Amino acid sequence: MRHSLIVAGNWKMNMTVREGMEFLEKLGPVDGKVMIFPPYTTLAVLAGEFRRRGITYGPQNFHYKDSGAYTGEISLPMIRELGCDCLLVGHSERRSYYNETDEEIHKKIQAALSENFSVMLCIGENLDERKSGQWKKVLRKQLLEDLEGLSRDKIPYIQIAYEPIWAIGTGVSASTEEITETHRYLKTVFQELTGSDIPLLYGGSVNEKNAAEIGSCPGVDGFLIGGASLKPDKFRKIIEISK
Ligand code: G3H
Repeated sequence: MRHSLIVAGNWKMNMTVREGMEFLEKLGPVDGKVMIFPPYTTLAVLAGEFRRRGITYGPQNFHYKDSGAYTGEISLPMIRELGCDCLLVGHSERRSYYNETDEEIHKKIQAALSENFSVMLCIGENLDERKSGQWKKVLRKQLLEDLEGLSRDKIPYIQIAYEPIWAIGTGVSASTEEITETHRYLKTVFQELTGSDIPLLYGGSVNEKNAAEIGSCPGVDGFLIGGASLKPDKFRKIIEISK
């Protein structure tokens, strides 16, 4: 039998505080490895609720400096005060809309790990890179640059979410063959890099209908879910499937 899967919801720029409260009420009690990355406002108000329900929570982004004149940013000490454990970093929307580079992502990961936070690093290729067969090179580069200098004692603090950009928000996930092949490749690269295995999640149009099939692909340790994580009934079904 396969192990239980991690179910992580990335709410992106959705869910007011009121909507977040309604979501949790409708979701009801959860058990299993459940994580939610809400927007900052909702995170700050609902932190206690997440904790009470055994849901791991954290921000979708953060700055690598502790404080200073960085308008619009939030820092690790601010996040620490909310009791967050895990931080999302390197999402493709941050990379493409806000020009986040691998160098910056590396700095964020280093800062978070030095403060003993866990991070969920997102990596993924675009459609051209997939079609042209460049995807292995692209994913390897992201892993090597984002995790450069990773020390052995910090390996347990890392989770990776593989999210093919072309499958995000489209309603059509990567195929099980593509997911299996890519996860096998990424696990091999990580093994080469560190000598260890790593929790490797798949993201990109996961929903309550395809979760069982995707979750049974070798090398899939969980899901990073956007759209379906906003609907309590769908998210609950995925949690049930993943136990
Ligand atoms: O962070 C989540 C991913 O971008 C996947 O989003 O499930 O809406 O395709 P999606």
